[in-house]
Amino acid sequence: MTRERLGIKDFNIRKMTSSDLDEVFKIENLSNPTPWSTASFLDCLKGNYLNLVVTKNNNTIAFCISSINFTESHLLNISINPEYRGLGIGKFLLKKAESECLGKGIKDIFLEVRESNKIAISFYKAMNYRYVGVRKNYYKTELGREDGFIYTKHMEISKFLSLFRQMTYIIKKLFTI
Ligand SMILES: CC(C)(COP(=O)(O)OP(=O)(O)OC[C@H]1O[C@@H](n2cnc3c(N)ncnc32)[C@H](O)[C@@H]1OP(=O)(O)O)[C@@H](O)C(=O)NCCC(=O)NCCS
Repeated sequence: MTRERLGIKDFNIRKMTSSDLDEVFKIENLSNPTPWSTASFLDCLKGNYLNLVVTKNNNTIAFCISSINFTESHLLNISINPEYRGLGIGKFLLKKAESECLGKGIKDIFLEVRESNKIAISFYKAMNYRYVGVRKNYYKTELGREDGFIYTKHMEISKFLSLFRQMTYIIKKLFTI
């Protein structure tokens, strides 16, 4: 499927339920070198988490899970079915998670990403996440361990920047008419 053929209206975002878990678990196993157990996913459905899925024709094709702690959120997992990567679904899903976080009064979002996961790093940079540090030997690998990079996004600053970008766009349009 190409990006041109993809319309975001073809996709739906909603809260994850236990009936999504089989598909979520399949996506997880295709995405994560050290996949979460089904028990971990079940725990997230019970606790203080924001759990979202993207569906297409009622099939679950992506998910994201964030913990919610007062004014902070920790993005714990975001994975797209490999057949649907590079089509803008990650952006669509993360933006929705961010707007839900804003609605809950979250000020900062944190996440860790494997040092070797260049695609995810480029994804978070494109979503305006900022590198703030490293957790040494944070992740297991086949051969040992690797570092986790910590990225963060301050929601108030992002909201201001996005307003600023929109205003600049409108002003440019007005002057080119
Ligand atoms: C990382 C991931 C969630 C991105 O989702 P996606 O739907 O494929 O990404 P999108 O199509 O929304 O792309 C958004 C941006 O990410 C970056 N990006 C996406 N795929 C990329 C690739 N293959 N190479 C480089 N940059 C890429 C680009 O900047 C892109 O913006 P652009 O299309 O305007 O250039 C997805 O690749 C995935 O599920 N990976 C496996 C699981 C994983 O690593 N999760 C993160 C754990 S920390």
